[in-house]
Amino acid sequence: MAAGRGTRMKSKLPKVLHLLAGRALVQHVIDTSAVLSARQVTVITGHGATEVEAAVAGSETSARQFELNFVRQEPQLGTGHAVQQAVPVLRDDGVVLVLSGDVPLTQPDTLAQLIVACAGDKLALLTIDFANPSGYGRIVRQGDAVQAIVEQKDASAAQLKITEVYSGIMALPALHLKKWLARLDNKNAQGEYYLTDIVKFAVADGVPVVAYKIVDAVQMAGVNSPVQLAELERSNQQRVALQLMEQGVRLADPARFDVRGTLTCAQDVSIDVNCVFEGQVSLGEGVSIGSHCFIKNVNIAAGAVIHPFTHIEGGAPGSKNAIEVGAGALIGPFARLRRGAKLGAEVHIGNFVEVKNSTLAKGAKANHLAYLGDATVGARVNFGAGSITANYDGANKHRTIIEADVHIGSNCVLIAPLTVGAGGTVGGGSTLTKDTPPLALTVARARQVSVANWKRPSKK
Ligand code: UD1
Ligand code: CA
Repeated sequence: MAAGRGTRMKSKLPKVLHLLAGRALVQHVIDTSAVLSARQVTVITGHGATEVEAAVAGSETSARQFELNFVRQEPQLGTGHAVQQAVPVLRDDGVVLVLSGDVPLTQPDTLAQLIVACAGDKLALLTIDFANPSGYGRIVRQGDAVQAIVEQKDASAAQLKITEVYSGIMALPALHLKKWLARLDNKNAQGEYYLTDIVKFAVADGVPVVAYKIVDAVQMAGVNSPVQLAELERSNQQRVALQLMEQGVRLADPARFDVRGTLTCAQDVSIDVNCVFEGQVSLGEGVSIGSHCFIKNVNIAAGAVIHPFTHIEGGAPGSKNAIEVGAGALIGPFARLRRGAKLGAEVHIGNFVEVKNSTLAKGAKANHLAYLGDATVGARVNFGAGSITANYDGANKHRTIIEADVHIGSNCVLIAPLTVGAGGTVGGGSTLTKDTPPLALTVARARQVSVANWKRPSKK
């Protein structure tokens, strides 16, 4: 269900498209369905339907792993009415899991347990005990047996005292669901079609109703406001941080650590405060990440050190635009690695150095204030302070090749396309426009001239 308005977000963006850990709320729910090997996922849209449908259809998970359908609910007449819209696309066999697009952190294991409780023929409700159950539907039991869910606004004084509440998540056979949905009415305090009324029909039809009770409130927490979104973001990050620390990753402070994607760490990785990881990042053995780094779509090999305030932003994982940082490389502080940076072992990239779509072989160094764009840099090259590859002529990008063991002095401009021959040296301040031969010293700047006893002009 993803049709609700989300008024309290006070945003133009439909609520279920707000991001948690870098993914839309509704995408979390869909990705969880993929983990459960759902055969079919049906997204019920209403408010912002076009936007929500485009975002979900465009995501990688939804693209391949199951049959994806969208149905529209207009107007929104309640949760039962929402699910009614899905009936035409639901198959008769199998189990339906009803989820909310704004409840992102229900764990796949929990839902798998709920499906086990359903056992293909029961109505299984995910429930929880709340000291303050206000606002939620109450689980009404007779003895142990669940009799009904009563919404807050329809509840008697006695029912309001019930602390077991319905999470909004249920699993049940598709055939029963279709049959019971057809019987819903809106004769209640809110004039809505309540999905929760099907519990009464199950009881009347002699279908067992089971409650699977959890204790972790985060798993059923919905997002209604920016405050709740931020709270869930923290809960989620804390969970990720704990998992990593249990694997041995040393986080300077789990409260100042954000993963908005997938972070894979080998042994003895340490991460200082205020780092953000996006996309797919893998850190090899002994990698150390300094404070305040932004790191996206990169493989960082064993022993590399990323100093503070480094910005690494690779393109799509697995593509030529992803970034590789070789074993024992030293990056930063204040370095910027952009798409397609491929750094070999023991490469050094120092402060205020930008690298884009460039390959640096083992041991190459650019330690200060430099730009390497569309460059192929050989082993052990030293690229001096203030030097750049001028890769763009205003219309096209060209490649610069710097062969092994070249030493480029400070403040050089290498106007691509060109090749600096192996073992060559380029004098500081040179502007190169042509290839240079191997092993040569190349100087391309005005010769130094001194005028003896030069008198400066004086005031008249
Ligand atoms: C619902 C349950 C309540 C439960 C609570 C848990 C009903 C009648 N009540 O309450 O027992 O304790 O969830 O959070 O089901 N939605 C639609 N179309 C609609 C109405 C809602 O798509 O017409 C979507 C919302 O966007 C949301 C979800 O359904 O994702 C739940 O709706 P919400 O209004 O939050 O739930 P309640 O009715 O308050
Ligand atoms: Ca409601």
